[in-house]
Amino acid sequence: MKRRTLVIVVVVVAMLSVIVAVAASLLHDGLSARAKPTQIETVIARNARRLAIPANARLTQNPVLASVEDLRDARLHFADHCAICHDNDGSGETAIGSGLYPKPPDLRLPQTQNLTDGELFWIIENGVRFTGMPAFASGGEHGGTQDSWRLVHFIRHLPHLTDAERIEMERYNPKGPGDREEEQQESDFLKGATPRRKPESQDHHKE
Ligand code: HEC
Repeated sequence: MKRRTLVIVVVVVAMLSVIVAVAASLLHDGLSARAKPTQIETVIARNARRLAIPANARLTQNPVLASVEDLRDARLHFADHCAICHDNDGSGETAIGSGLYPKPPDLRLPQTQNLTDGELFWIIENGVRFTGMPAFASGGEHGGTQDSWRLVHFIRHLPHLTDAERIEMERYNPKGPGDREEEQQESDFLKGATPRRKPESQDHHKE
């Protein structure tokens, strides 16, 4: 009887320690999104995500053949919908991407490239809960499953992206009023309309 009580106490203490360790791991840095997820969190999250993706979805083959045209469509689609967080080259080093928790991983590295086509497709279609990764399955201009499969081809291409491709993508990145004004000024300047002057507000950076 006494032994049984001891076993129960040991089990309860062990469970409480695990809960405290996980809570401490989750609550580090006062829940600031500027922090980097701990190793434990990353391992738990990636494994939980893997388990949550149904096995048959994981093994689905890409039904879309990657023609040159399809690859270009996917590239420009990525520039428009994904690069705001993932950057055109997939590094994830954008103002929004680096402010997220967890941050978007570098899509060129093995941890992403080793995911199956089916897993990449599932993530694009369904998003990842508790992260900034949105589900694109019914997302407005995102044109259905074909578009997601084309994006899978593009993600495979990311480690070999050329400078020319990246520069073309920049023209398709979403733009704010400041960028548009700058483009307009550049185009006016190239047409020889008015001499181009920098707005004075930029000068204080030089001081
Ligand atoms: C608002 C920001 C945001 C946008 C927009 C976004 N993503 Fe993500 N994405 C993320 C974050 C954050 C993660 C990391 C999720 C995680 O940790 O499981 C992620 C993860 C991924 C992954 C999994 C990579 C891996 O190794 O875990 C893929 C693939 C992906 N995104 C593709 C896309 C594609 C394709 C688009 C555009 C159609 C897109 N994302 C748009 C934020 C974004």
